Formats: sequence, structure tokens, C-alpha cells
Amino acid sequence: MATQEMYNYKVVRQFSIMTIVWGIVGMLVGVSIAAQMAWPALNFDIPWLTFGRLRSLHTNAVIFAFGGSALFATSYYVVQRTCHARLFAPTLAAFTFWGWQLVILSAAITLPLGYTSSKEYAELEWPIDILITLVWVAYAVVFFGTIVKRKIPHIYVANWFYGAFIIAVAVLHIFNSAAVPVSFLKSYSAYAGVQDAMVQWWYGHNAVGFFLTAGFLGMMYYFIPKQVNRPVYSYRLSVVHFWALIFTYIWAGPHHLHYTALPDWAQSVGMVFSLILLAPSWGGMINGIMTLSGAWEKLRTDPILRFLIVSVSFYGMSTFEGPMMAIKTVNALSHYTDWTIGHVHSGALGWVAMVTIGCMYYLIPRLFGREVHSVKLIEVHFWISTIGIVLYITAMWVSGIMQGLMWRAVNTDGTLTYSFVESVQATHPFYVVRFMGGVLFLTGMIIMAYNIWKTIAGAKAIEAAIPAPSH
Ligand code: HEM
Ligand code: HEM
Repeated sequence: MATQEMYNYKVVRQFSIMTIVWGIVGMLVGVSIAAQMAWPALNFDIPWLTFGRLRSLHTNAVIFAFGGSALFATSYYVVQRTCHARLFAPTLAAFTFWGWQLVILSAAITLPLGYTSSKEYAELEWPIDILITLVWVAYAVVFFGTIVKRKIPHIYVANWFYGAFIIAVAVLHIFNSAAVPVSFLKSYSAYAGVQDAMVQWWYGHNAVGFFLTAGFLGMMYYFIPKQVNRPVYSYRLSVVHFWALIFTYIWAGPHHLHYTALPDWAQSVGMVFSLILLAPSWGGMINGIMTLSGAWEKLRTDPILRFLIVSVSFYGMSTFEGPMMAIKTVNALSHYTDWTIGHVHSGALGWVAMVTIGCMYYLIPRLFGREVHSVKLIEVHFWISTIGIVLYITAMWVSGIMQGLMWRAVNTDGTLTYSFVESVQATHPFYVVRFMGGVLFLTGMIIMAYNIWKTIAGAKAIEAAIPAPSH
């Protein structure tokens, strides 16, 4: 018998394990900065541990290390399985793994040392930016090369989302990171003034739209149908969802610059496109959730499915909240307050982290040919993280709206009713609650690491055979 060709699972396994490792590291840093906001002395007067430096370490670690590893792992798995083809260019695929880990390690060293370009979510200095570009080009070659050599004529919708994410992130990264280096670890943006701000938030918003959304929708479209064992609710809707979402996202960036020096018309364009964005976002959410129709009872017994479905519900919530916050008069209240932080984490914890966790529980046992060690522990993880998120985001909503109202309150003689420090004082209890929510969420991740460790300890990695063409 001819030996069958096998899928390349090695790189999927490597990225999957690192997803959990970086998740724990990034969230530990998140808990540390959350603690510092409640008890500032916890920076121990050590420059490397101050809020300003650790905050960007947190965002880079959770978005690019945790989220990025999950995206690499799942896209490499999904593209192979849905194309019935082994990954194209395995050496390049291995390079994306080691190269990405090197990017993360460089971030973990340079950010606490204070080296930063000061552009949010693009803080890394130019030599690291060049490495990111190389890894990303290699990623595109591996992913699209696999699509080209596919044995299935149709390109499944999840691959469209992953593909758009890969292309968009390449374009965003290259344009926004254009800079003039003045030394090995210092550069200045190629843009100035309000143009710099607009390029930055065109990047920043689409980092949300493509890094934290499109790729994760790819996960939703593959792993929910797999876990439920039913086809996606409406394939036609998924195609409309795809084109509407990627077209609309690109224009919404100016909502980050309301009431700034950006021309008023540009702010209004950003607002209008943000409002339109509700429709494709909710189309996608409905498609994900309705995939369960006729199988709702599975939610009662399957904690992995619960992670996936709750994540899509949070996606719906944050994509309702976002357009609302993009309305200029609402933004006048929410901007600069903790409401933004609540919105961010209902997307980041509720959507991105929960969908990732669900996918990893599906994926990792299969990559090692094992049953998961304990379903009970997945159940515990689910409840701990859900309670953690609820504590985190409700605390931030209440404190955010409170801050906004306190800052704008004026007495009849026109003077401010509250001094700034009074609003800081009033916020303190909410920072303690947010910290507790973060600790719960992190505890859930540690339980997951234990469960996965017990699942794969002693297991032999497996390679699945690629089905022979049916014609
Ligand atoms: C244990 C879990 C987490 C905790 C305790 C936590 C805590 C924090 C804190 C304290 C901040 C700074 C807020 C401020 O400046 O007022 C922050 C910012 C941020 N976090 Fe987290 N975080 C967690 C998980 C995550 C995850 C999983 C993601 C993404 C997938 C994420 C993405 C972000 C982003 C994007 C910001 C910046 C928000 C902005 O600039 O508006 N966080 N986080
Ligand atoms: C229809 C979809 C969405 C719209 C229209 C939207 C809109 C907004 C608006 C208006 C802000 C506040 C800007 C400001 O006042 O500075 C914001 C902030 C933010 N949103 Fe969303 N949002 C959406 C979905 C999401 C999702 C799903 C996530 C996460 C996965 C997310 C992550 C963020 C982050 C990280 C920020 C903070 C950016 C910063 O200032 O650092 N958003 N969003």
C-alpha cells in the first residue's frame, strides 16, 4: 500500500501550546497592572515594573503572543483540513513559529526597558518591525501556498476570513510602522501631526477588525460547526458577512479621533461606518449562534461548546456597544474613561479569549490523539472565567460612566463640581473589583494549563492522514 500523505501538525501543536503559555504570561501582566491601578505602590519603585511600561507589554502579549499564536495554530490546522493538503513550504512554516517567538521575546525585553515607538499596538521598534514583516510574508506564502495546492475546489469560508486577516495585517503593519530610524532602538514616525494620528488609528482600529476579529471569525466558522457536528447555519450569509465586514471595517478608524484636530467630516465618516458595522457583525453573530439550532441541548452538557457560544454572544455585545460609543455625543462621555476599557475587555476576554480557549480544548487533544484529561475541569474553567469577565466589565462600565458624569458636572456658577482627584477616589473600589475579575480569569487559564498538561503528558504526537481524492 502506498504510504499516505500526512497533515503537518507539528507547527500547529507548537503554536497551540504557546497560546496557553503566552495567555498566562499576558494575563499575569494584566493582573499586575490592574493591581497597580488599585494599589500604586505595587510597582515597587522599579522602572521596569511601572504601569506605563507593563501596559504595552500586556497588550502586546495578549494580542500578538496569545491571540497571534492561536491564529497561527488554528489557521494552519483549518487550511490543511479544509483543503485536504499538507502545509506548503514546511521550512517556512517552522520559521514562522520560531520567528514569531523571537518577536515576542524581543517585545518582552524591550518594552519593560522603555524602548517604544509610542504608537499604540505598534510600540515595537524598527528592527523588530522588520522581523515581523519577514515572518508575516512567510506566513502568507505558507497559507496561500496551501490554498493553491488544495485538492478541494471550493475554498471554505473560514479560509476567506484567515486570508483577509493575513493580507490586511501585512498592509496595516507596513504603512503604520514606516519610520525614520535614528539609532538601533529609536525611530520617528514617517508621518507628522494629525496625519500620523489618522494613520495610527486606521491601523489601530483595523488591528481590532482584522487581528482581533476577522481571524477569530475564521475560528468560529470552522470550530463551532465541528463541535456541534452540524453545518454552518447559512453559508450564503457567511459570504455576505465576509464581504460586508471587510469593506466596512476599513473606514471606521476615525471614531478613535472624535473631537480632535482631524477634520470634522472625517470624524463623521468614521461614525457612520461604525454604525453600519453593526449589521455585518450581527449577521456573523447570528450565523454562529444559529448553527446550534436543533441542537441547543448540547449546551447543557458540552462545556467546550459553551465557551464557543458564549464567546460569540460577547462578540455580539461588544459590536453593539462599539457602534454606540462611536456616536459622537456618546463618545463625548465615554472617551478617556474606563467605559472604553470595559468595551475592550468584553471584546478581548469575552470574545477573543473565550473563543480561543474553546478552540484549544477542541484542538489539543486531537493533535495528541488523546481524550481530554477532565471535562469537569473545563466546566470549572468555564464558570470561573465567565464570572471573572462579568466582574471585570461591569466594574469598568459603572466606573466609566461615573467618571464621565463627574468630569462634566458643573455648578450653576460654571465651576466644576468635582476635582479630578475626587473622581480617582470614587473609582478605587471598581479597580479592586476589576482586579478580582482578572485574578479569576487568570486562575481559569492556570486550570486549563494543568488540564492540558495532564492530557498530553506521555502522549505521542499524532499525524492524521490526508484523505485520498474521491474522484
Ligand atoms: C486576566 C485578564 C486581564 C486583565 C486583568 C487585564 C487588565 C488590563 C488593564 C489593567 C489594562 C489597562 C487599563 C487602563 O489603562 O486603564 C488593560 C488594557 C488592555 N487590555 Fe487587558 N487584561 C486582561 C486580559 C486581556 C486580554 C485577553 C486581551 C486581548 C485579547 C486584553 C487586551 C487589552 C487591551 C487592547 C488594552 C488596552 C485598552 C485601551 O488602550 O483602551 N486584555 N488590560
Ligand atoms: C462593530 C464593531 C465595533 C465598533 C464600531 C467599535 C467601536 C469602538 C469605539 C467607538 C471605541 C472608543 C474609541 C475612543 O473613544 O477612544 C473603541 C475602542 C476599542 N475597541 Fe471597539 N468597536 C467594535 C468592536 C470591537 C471588538 C470586537 C473589539 C475586541 C475584540 C474591540 C476592541 C477595541 C479596543 C482594543 C479599543 C481601544 C482602543 C484604544 O483606544 O486603545 N472593539 N471601539
